[in-house]
Parts: sequence; C-alpha cells; structure tokens
Amino acid sequence: MSQIDTEVVVVDAVCPEAAKVERAAALIRAGEVVVFPTETVYGLGANALQPRAVERIFAAKGRPFSDPLIVHIADEDALRDLASSLPEHVQELTRAFWPGPLTLIVPRGRLVPALVTAGLETVAVRMPRHAVALALIRAAGSPIAAPSANRFMHISPTTAQHAFADLNGRVPLILDSGPCEVGVESTVLDLCAAVPTILRPGGVSLEELRTALPDVQLTTRQTRHAATPGDVHDEKGAQKAPGQLFAHYAPAVPLFLFVGSVESMRGAMLAEVRRRRENGELVGVLVADEDVPVFQGSGALAQSLGNASAPGQVAAVLFASLRDLEATGVQVILCRDFDERGLGLAVHDRLLRAAGRVIEVS
Ligand code: TXA
Ligand code: MG
Repeated sequence: MSQIDTEVVVVDAVCPEAAKVERAAALIRAGEVVVFPTETVYGLGANALQPRAVERIFAAKGRPFSDPLIVHIADEDALRDLASSLPEHVQELTRAFWPGPLTLIVPRGRLVPALVTAGLETVAVRMPRHAVALALIRAAGSPIAAPSANRFMHISPTTAQHAFADLNGRVPLILDSGPCEVGVESTVLDLCAAVPTILRPGGVSLEELRTALPDVQLTTRQTRHAATPGDVHDEKGAQKAPGQLFAHYAPAVPLFLFVGSVESMRGAMLAEVRRRRENGELVGVLVADEDVPVFQGSGALAQSLGNASAPGQVAAVLFASLRDLEATGVQVILCRDFDERGLGLAVHDRLLRAAGRVIEVS
C-alpha cells in the first residue's frame, strides 16, 4: 500500500471542536479511513455502508477479510436500519448500556455490506460513549465500521500515539483526544444465539450484564492450543467463532502468563527472572503495585498495572503498559494473572490472548 502523510489533530474529548470533527467527517464521506477515539480503544473507521471504504480498513490494518467489523452508531434508530429484526432483550440492553462498551450481535439487514460482516448473516453494532466518536458519526451522516486502530495481531491502541505507531503512513488523519477511559475493547454479546452469549468479555462486566439479563452466558473458551488462525476459519473463510481468535493481542515480545495463587505466582516469576538474568537476558515483569517490592533488586524491569483489587484501573492501563514494556527492549515479559471479577474478566482474557505460554503454578 502506498504511503500517505498521516496528520494527528488534537480534539477536545468533552466538547469536540466542530471544525476538526468536520474535517474527519468529510474524509469519511469521501470514502477514506480515519482514526478516532472511543471510550474503549481507538478505532479505524470508514463509512460502513460503502464497500470500497470498508475495504480500506482491511488494507490499512493488514486484517484478513474473514474477521467481521463492528458498526458504530450515534442513535438507536440507526440500529433498526442495520438489523433485519430486533432480537428479544435489545431494548433493556440499549437502555442500560448505550452509549457504552457493549456490542450487540443482531440479524444483518440488507443495507449492511457483506464485507463488514465477513459474509455472516449477523452484524455487530455499538453506540460508543465518547463525544468525539458520536460527533463524528453524526457529521459523517452514516454509521462507521471500525475495528481497533492497530495493525492486525498487535495490541489495541488506547492513545493516538499508539495508533500512530501502528498506522503512520497508512491513514490520512488521526483524531487525538488523549487516553481512552476504559482501556479494553467492548463486550461482544451475541443476541442471535439460543441464549444470549458473551463472545468477548470487555468494558461492560458480566456482573453488570446479569442485572439486565440474568441468564446471559459466557462462550465456552476454546482450548488455547486448538486455536490457531488456520483452524478457526471455515471453508468460506469466515471465522467459525469470531472474536475467539487467540494470539490476537500479541505484543511484539514473547509474554508468559503465570496463573495461580498470588504467592505462587510471585515465587515462580521471581525464580524465572533469576534464571533468565543468569543467562544475561533482559526481563520485564508486569505485576500489581503490591508485587513490586518482590522484584526489587532482582534485575527485572517491573511495570505495575496498579492495585490488583481495582480491575477497572488495571484494564485502563493494560495495553499501554504492554506497549511501554515492549519499547524498553526487554526480551521477554513475565506477567501475573488477575482475578476475574468485574473488568478483571476482560483483563484475564486479553492476557491469555497475549500469552505465548500459560504457566500454572498452583
Ligand atoms: O471497543 C471496541 O469494540 C473497539 C472500538 C473501536 O469500538 N472495536 C473493536 O473492534 O475492538 P475489533 O474489530 O478489533 O473487534 C471486533 C470483534 C472481533 O472479535 C469480531 O470477530 C467480533 O467483534 N465480531 C464482529 N462482528 C461479529 C459478528 N457478526 N458475529 C460475531 N462476532 C463479531
Ligand atoms: Mg481488534
């Protein structure tokens, strides 16, 4: 793909300047791609109803056409235009969680190009809770299809600088409204399944969803070793279980995830640090505040994700911390696990996907 100049424009996250939003909207209307902030992660957007524009998303990202996109809308009426029918529970869910980090899988309406959904008969729709995203969708005058604004297989961007690092020269414009509030992607909820099923845990927790939808269930996790990009695609190239592609958030440096009790994780990680330091390796550890003293003097570069009992804060800094550690030049990242309460479920899921190896220590 030919290189283009990428401009980064700073936009107020609360009261977006209309002229700046309009510049981005004009690009969208012209069939171009634009990077924009949402409350979860930055998105790489294009007019969802124009197949040519949607193609540019896949080209800029280097993403295979087999992975379907989320369509972003700014008002609930737009959902009726995109869906062929509205499944049960839609109203309770949109009332409780929109705008916000909940993506609903509904039957695909005829307006939605097959390219957006990778040929599936369902479409993923969400209304983001970010003034810039909402203003952009309104000004563009169309729904915006957008995956996370990272290169395929890299970590999702939570700042405009992350998006720039991955997409410089591949997109004309990045709207920069500072760090994303939630820090992990939206929860993807399949309303076309027999029982509403979470395909990807994210910014709306399982506990929160249960308040509106008591029988919601989690998809059965694929075993890590069975899930390689090759074997989760059917013969038509569409993913059998979209969103379930493991090693999707991989950092550029190998990451080992330690799973077990806090004491055993710390012990095993420290032993691994010592072993690798003896071989002269540069080792990064990704831990919680309360673990930091354990690694003092160990020679590892310790990065804290904050207090382990505040999963919302851990989620908010997770992707930025992974990118920061990558940039230090460490040869390996050893990471502790976090418990699955609240946004901890999404944190745990992203760490599993990032991990080259999971080491169970209890
Ligand atoms: O928070 C977010 O969701 C961000 C921001 C930009 O909105 N977007 C995002 O998009 O994470 P992406 O493309 O990186 O992830 C979308 C996920 C993928 O795992 C995809 O497989 C799944 O949603 N998905 C999309 N359409 C689907 C469908 N029709 N059925 C099942 N899963 C679908
Ligand atoms: Mg993504």
